[in-house]
Amino acid sequence: MKKVKVGIIGHTGRLGTPLVEILQKHPLADIVYTESRNKGFYGSLAKAEIIFLAVPYGESTNYLSKLKRKKIIDLSIDHRNKKGWSYGLPEIFRNEIKNAKMVANPGCYATSILLALYPLKNEIKSIRISSTSGMSGAGIAQKKEENFLIYKEGDQHPQIQEITKILGVKDVLFIPQRIDSTEKGIVSTIFVNINDKLSNIHDIYKEFYRNCRFIRIRDEIETRHVVGTNFCDMKIMEFQNDILIISALDNIIKGGVGQAIQNFNLMYGIDEVLGLIGDR
Ligand SMILES: NC(=O)c1ccc[n+]([C@@H]2O[C@H](COP(=O)([O-])OP(=O)(O)OC[C@H]3O[C@@H](n4cnc5c(N)ncnc54)[C@H](OP(=O)(O)O)[C@@H]3O)[C@@H](O)[C@H]2O)c1
Repeated sequence: MKKVKVGIIGHTGRLGTPLVEILQKHPLADIVYTESRNKGFYGSLAKAEIIFLAVPYGESTNYLSKLKRKKIIDLSIDHRNKKGWSYGLPEIFRNEIKNAKMVANPGCYATSILLALYPLKNEIKSIRISSTSGMSGAGIAQKKEENFLIYKEGDQHPQIQEITKILGVKDVLFIPQRIDSTEKGIVSTIFVNINDKLSNIHDIYKEFYRNCRFIRIRDEIETRHVVGTNFCDMKIMEFQNDILIISALDNIIKGGVGQAIQNFNLMYGIDEVLGLIGDR
């Protein structure tokens, strides 16, 4: 197979930088174009077959008019839930992504929550989530310091929309937190209330994710097991009437560029794990 000619807009950001690193090592990708306001343009946009948009909220729409007839993977929130765009959660929507022209990559919190809950879809009554993220989740401007921030509690965080839409559940409360002294990683602790008691929840998850190389059901959850990788780890626990699921991933990789590379691979009929397993 010939290498796919790739462009990146926002290549200097928290996501753009590792995206360039992964694509430079990817055996079937050739970076032919990069763009940011400060670094300007490099290469030829006309030659690029697919563009990764790694620009802040509200900005990616502004670039669409010059990307006509190209495939697009948008890492921002702008096109999630928009008509004509596929939701790029590969473990769940693999077949749709294979034929997609435009993919909206999920949010990092949403990825950790949706992967943890999707095997229980149709059984869920309500969800209570507490997610903790390293400070890199806040983009380039954020500085490392001793601080623990709780923000957009309840139903205020914008990623609630993609969570409720994909799961079809309205009763969702979400408490996002940011630890500014830690750089990367998200841990989501999720309490789920379901309609009827399910038996063998572990088996449900193992069966659901049996063909998903980046999902690991584990007994221990630690961000150091996932940071720098495209894995999402989860632990599933049952107490009398409660199910508790804890998931962990790297917000920048599995919650961002790693997932985008999975989508890129699927869109070009390439093995989904290419470029993501090995030295990562
Ligand atoms: N950080 C995460 O954990 C994470 C995870 C998943 C998804 N996302 C989403 O991915 C996108 C990129 O996130 P990020 O954390 O990489 O952001 P970032 O660190 O702020 O980087 C933004 C990039 O976009 C460029 N850019 C182009 N137009 C811009 C504009 N009008 N205003 C500001 N920057 C502009 C910036 O370079 P110039 O300043 O030179 O233009 C830079 O290369 C965001 O939409 C974010 O919500 C982030």
